[in-house]
Amino acid sequence: MTDRYAVVGHPIAQTKSPRIHAAFARQTGEDLVYDAILAPLDGFGAAVAAFRAAGGRGLNVTVPFKLEAFALANERSLRAQEAGAVNTLRFDGDRALGDNTDGAGLVSDITLRLRVPLAGKRVLLMGAGGAARGVVGPLLRERPASLAIANRTVEKAHELVRRFGPQGPVHGGGYGEVAGEAFDVVINATSASLEGAVPPLPDGVFAPGALAYDLVYGDRPTSFLVSARATGAASVADGLGMLVAQAAESFLLWRGVRPDTAPVIEALRAR
Ligand code: ATR
Repeated sequence: MTDRYAVVGHPIAQTKSPRIHAAFARQTGEDLVYDAILAPLDGFGAAVAAFRAAGGRGLNVTVPFKLEAFALANERSLRAQEAGAVNTLRFDGDRALGDNTDGAGLVSDITLRLRVPLAGKRVLLMGAGGAARGVVGPLLRERPASLAIANRTVEKAHELVRRFGPQGPVHGGGYGEVAGEAFDVVINATSASLEGAVPPLPDGVFAPGALAYDLVYGDRPTSFLVSARATGAASVADGLGMLVAQAAESFLLWRGVRPDTAPVIEALRAR
């Protein structure tokens, strides 16, 4: 029997998820359909209930429902707890497992597709909002030599350092505090690129061979990636890879098969 999945959000017209999951299903031979559901702003719970009543097996959850999805789940993965948000739900009878695949998607895009190991590396994470919070745990589990977190609002960086300090070598504060340090991987988890801005990085943060990675993506290189190339990054990558990779992690959770993201990213880029 064909299993049903969907992404739910508001708005939803812009979503690439149905295209991505249809490509994964073709690639792996999995028998599933994947739709997009527009839920009213006050109707997330009802939309999920209707989907489950119709036999739906799993959902991706996007803006603005990730916190409601967290509350709705009756079991939560460690990475969902760390992120404080749920982007993937899996339904088995009365069970609703809430997971968050964003951080795992970032890590697998960097380590598996771009083939940049994070173990033993000096990593800088910019930003301390929801997007940054979701990736700290998965980054630390790769065992970097160090993870620095820099944020405009210094206290939010300190809060992340306090929260994740017991799990690994994490330090941070304002952008000025990373002056004089060099990093092998610099990740932009701020929303600055959405407004064409660049976080105030000190000079000299890119070590020789460094990778600059922006969680944001677009038709053209983001403002951060343009600036990173000009100031010493050896390679750059935008968040389209992470988008497809977080979908692949959801697919893996639902189906037990890990799809290859590279051809799907290429197809999306070509459009
Ligand atoms: P998201 O869910 O995308 O993480 P968010 O939780 O609102 O959104 O967080 C946005 C992040 O981008 C924050 O770290 C924010 O810095 P502040 O905490 O100081 O607000 C950061 N940010 C947004 N615009 C920025 C800019 N122009 N320069 C530097 N950081 C910026």
